[in-house]
Amino acid sequence: MTGDDLQSVGPSRRPPGRVLVLGSTGMLGRSWVRLLEDKGIEHRDLSRPEFNLSEPQSIERAFDRPYDLVINAAAWTDVDGAEDDEAGATQANAYAVEQIAKRCRELGAMLITYSTDYVFDGRATEPYPIDAPIDPVNAYGRSKALGETQLRQTTPDHLLIRTSWVYAPWGKNFVLTMMKLICDREQLSVVNDQRGRPTSATHLAAGSLAMYLAGATGTWHLTDSGECTWFEFAQEIKAVIGARCEIEPCGSDAFPRPAKRPSYSTLDLKPTQQLLGEIGGWSKRLRESIHAARQQ
Ligand SMILES: NC(=O)c1ccc[n+]([C@@H]2O[C@H](COP(=O)([O-])OP(=O)(O)OC[C@H]3O[C@@H](n4cnc5c(N)ncnc54)[C@H](OP(=O)(O)O)[C@@H]3O)[C@@H](O)[C@H]2O)c1
Repeated sequence: MTGDDLQSVGPSRRPPGRVLVLGSTGMLGRSWVRLLEDKGIEHRDLSRPEFNLSEPQSIERAFDRPYDLVINAAAWTDVDGAEDDEAGATQANAYAVEQIAKRCRELGAMLITYSTDYVFDGRATEPYPIDAPIDPVNAYGRSKALGETQLRQTTPDHLLIRTSWVYAPWGKNFVLTMMKLICDREQLSVVNDQRGRPTSATHLAAGSLAMYLAGATGTWHLTDSGECTWFEFAQEIKAVIGARCEIEPCGSDAFPRPAKRPSYSTLDLKPTQQLLGEIGGWSKRLRESIHAARQQ
């Protein structure tokens, strides 16, 4: 499929009247809930145990009333855990997405759901365009790649947003983990052979709503702009919090993990920038997120 088959821009949309947020406890789900509150948009928020991607009946129950827009921020996000239970990850990230998409189609609701840079093989040397061949290197990536296919086959009324390296002022993420380690330790080693784009969940939610309002449909990329390695990301976190910890670069082989990671996973943002205008750089957004984390 080419980029033109995968994405389109129609007339701009009005703000949605009724929104369903699935996975409202996650980094992105919480960001969506805050955004909808700020905008005064009516929303229903569901999360475990009431809503479970592994339980088709709970998905059916979520659709007991009509919505204009459904946000699926729920997913199996345990990349290493997916290696041991690929069937579980595939149920959550592919078959549940298919079921949600089917119910959206039946109810006439638009669906926004998320995929990942990990659908690509990581061997590129420049940002992956939306129509680059999919070739995941781990079980999580395969489950998300199948979710993309199931979604496209089920409803045309979708926004599938691939993103990467998500963090937020809340939840479990690299920024909050590093903030703690940098303060607690005198020395740290951080991987310097994986390159990608950090993404603030707050901006991911806001950008997703902006894409919806701008009339976007299909597959899009949305991350913050710029790129770095995890080591460079950690160095910037240290600079923002002003700690003395020594951070050393190391290779991925220093921290063997069950799931292989792509070494280069920057997503091309050109079509998104044409739609939304310039996208903010990751280091500025990191500062905003750390500031917000300190206000919690
Ligand atoms: N985090 C990243 O770096 C990253 C990168 C690329 C793409 N993405 C994608 O971005 C989207 C948002 O993820 P996130 O970053 O916000 O991750 P997150 O903080 O881990 O949130 C995941 C959410 O999914 C929920 N969930 C997990 N398994 C579930 C199940 N079986 N049934 C119902 N809910 C379940 C979690 O609920 P609990 O609170 O109950 O665990 C949580 O609300 C996902 O589609 C993810 O694949 C994330």
